[in-house]
Amino acid sequence: MTTTGPDVTGMPRHVACVMDGNGRWAEQRGLKRTDGHAAGEQSLLDVVDGALELGIEWLTVYAFSTENWRRPTDEVRFLMRFNESLLVQRRDELHEKGVRIRFVGRRDWKVPKRLLRRMDESVTLTAGNRRLTLTIAFNYGAQAEIVDAVKQIVALGPAPADVDEALIAKHLYDPEMPDVDLWIRTSGEYRISNFLIWQSAYAELVFVDTYWPDFRRRHLAAAVAEYQSRNRRFGGLDQ
Ligand code: IPE
Ligand code: IPE
Ligand code: MG
Repeated sequence: MTTTGPDVTGMPRHVACVMDGNGRWAEQRGLKRTDGHAAGEQSLLDVVDGALELGIEWLTVYAFSTENWRRPTDEVRFLMRFNESLLVQRRDELHEKGVRIRFVGRRDWKVPKRLLRRMDESVTLTAGNRRLTLTIAFNYGAQAEIVDAVKQIVALGPAPADVDEALIAKHLYDPEMPDVDLWIRTSGEYRISNFLIWQSAYAELVFVDTYWPDFRRRHLAAAVAEYQSRNRRFGGLDQ
């Protein structure tokens, strides 16, 4: 397999990314942690452009976890406002590029109403787009997602024999979301941190040392090239 350019035939359909290292990026520069979050906006926009260039259909990014509420109030408040203004300022250009914006995460728990409204507006505005689905995992935790799915299923009262993988998948936050092919984490941490556990059962994991605010489309392309050099077996044998 060539490593000189992307292999369009082996393009991952769904790329998921833990955007990590904002705080350390800022601390390294004597800045506030929140400056690191702000700097991450350029990375996200560049990676979206990179995904569009590569023809990736689904890109899911981890923006705020169900565990991130444990952070200092000021940082949490900053992240709520920051994500709200990012949506307001960027949704039109994302819309023009043919990006469909979606969200996964707990809606009815802690998220400010105003932000929820912005999220809904962005989803509605871009609902007809098909070039790239950008899913923002916000107030998202994979364990919470599975708990929420199980709650819905229990309320339906199925016979135990009818509970299978398809039934659980149907009750996840976005049942249309395909399984993750390429799962990336920036910042040199080798943890899943509760991101898309169900959907990543057979994802190829790529960990990069770059902090998120330094991550650009070339890093995405490098991760895709790494993915293309892997041999996926899904529990079977080599093709
Ligand atoms: C990721 O960067 C962004 C969020 C979790 C919101 P961090 O804020 O976790 O940055 P580090 O890991 O502390 O450097
Ligand atoms: C995961 O990063 C969550 C996001 C990037 C939004 P964290 O920085 O919160 O994860 P841990 O605490 O290092 O596991
Ligand atoms: Mg972190």
